[in-house]
Amino acid sequence: MKYKIENKSFASIKAEASVIFVIGEKLSHKWIDKNALKNLNFKGKSEEAVLLSDKLEVYVGIASLEHEELRLASAKAYSLLKSTKAKSAKIGLYTGLDAHANTKAIVEGFELGSYEFTRYKKSEKASLKSIIFANESYDGKKSNTKELQSAIDTALIYASATNLAKEVINTPPQDFTPLEMAKEAKKLAKLENVTCEVHDEKFLEKEGMGAFLAVNRASALPPRLIHLTYKPKNAKKRIIFVGKGLTYDSGGLSLKPSTSMVTMKADKSGAAAVLGIIKGVSELKLPFEVHGIIGATENMIGGDAYKPDDVLTARNKKTIEVHNTDAEGRLVLCDCLDYAQDFKPDLLIDMATLTGACVVALGEYTSGILGTNEKLQNDFFQVSKQSGELTTPLYSNRYLDKALKSEIADICNISNTRYGGSITAGVFLSNFIRKEYKDKWLHLDIAGPAFVQKPWGYNQFGASGAGVRMNIAYLQHLAKAK
Ligand code: BES
Ligand code: ZN
Ligand code: ZN
Repeated sequence: MKYKIENKSFASIKAEASVIFVIGEKLSHKWIDKNALKNLNFKGKSEEAVLLSDKLEVYVGIASLEHEELRLASAKAYSLLKSTKAKSAKIGLYTGLDAHANTKAIVEGFELGSYEFTRYKKSEKASLKSIIFANESYDGKKSNTKELQSAIDTALIYASATNLAKEVINTPPQDFTPLEMAKEAKKLAKLENVTCEVHDEKFLEKEGMGAFLAVNRASALPPRLIHLTYKPKNAKKRIIFVGKGLTYDSGGLSLKPSTSMVTMKADKSGAAAVLGIIKGVSELKLPFEVHGIIGATENMIGGDAYKPDDVLTARNKKTIEVHNTDAEGRLVLCDCLDYAQDFKPDLLIDMATLTGACVVALGEYTSGILGTNEKLQNDFFQVSKQSGELTTPLYSNRYLDKALKSEIADICNISNTRYGGSITAGVFLSNFIRKEYKDKWLHLDIAGPAFVQKPWGYNQFGASGAGVRMNIAYLQHLAKAK
């Protein structure tokens, strides 16, 4: 979609269609055709929407000028406009306190809401090609055009980073292999200040990544450790993201039941988020050195599969007793996290579709924020929720901390209790975080929102790109705070 700002009143702009938001169930501001809406019994409740087909006017209710209300409203408006032949639509400003952030939210709603995965099934092309913003708010105020333009640019960066992650995740496992992940990462090295190194199985062996390699063993496809680096001049901090890149998770010998196996192409969502974040931080030119480390492999079955009862040796020399080969993500991550710490991060964040337990605990809309520094978890929570992603901190305690004891190895890959599975998975990872990084590490379990089976909000069926927006927002927040 193309976006344009015109320094004119909303009424004087020529476009085929119009988008008008109704705020707080009050049919009161000047752009609203009050009679038409009253006749339709349109109340303007949040997400309530109607298309007046003769004038091509779309009305959407918003409860307030909160950013998420605006994202939902513009996505809703898009879905109604899609059914028309209008090529252009105009929209006024809904500036409230912050013209910049509100306009950004509106553009994000359009861009995220209009994403479609068309690689295997061509859909009818939408006619709508351009959105024209009037530089006039519903309450008559004007804004700074430069600021509005920068809001649009920023929104486009957030949305295209998120939509890149969606595209990666939606692609089926036979077409999106660990090698393909490496290719996709290499493409990002075209961006400013970005480089990409791809390491093969020989490297993993040399590094002693026995946990990562065990997961790969029964796969017909080789694993890859992908290391992206964005390094601007005068970077203030080094931030490292680590992503779980299971291009397929069959469960291994602890095989998943067939219905749970479907959607496991999305087990590469953490890795996909890493790709999106690197793209976003480079395009936003953020003042940090940002690394993206991806552990890419499949988890399959076969004669040489790793087994429940095996004892693996991780890169940091800790021994791991395997009790369930479906708890493979933590095995890939523990070696990648150990590798990441060699680069001395000031902040280390891993992202993974790690546990079904996280979905049970939080529902399919929310990611868990885990770690070993409650203050960092809380800070991240406060900032991440402004991005429109839903998150909640999950804390461990002295009892769950002990639940991974093994009789014969340093640690077991699953816990000895049925409960608190997302927290004990986090505890497993924390065993691979060195003392000096305990305060600097976060683990984001995105298993719930990563893949959407029933569309919600502006998320269509398929991947949502979970993890991308919240992390870019957090880095932007850190950049401003300094
Ligand atoms: N990839 C799954 C977790 C998952 C489940 C992601 C549902 C998205 C939706 C992970 O590898 C897994 O299978 N975890 C096991 C851990 C268990 C064996 C301790 C799980 O959650 O059942
Ligand atoms: Zn698994
Ligand atoms: Zn998995």
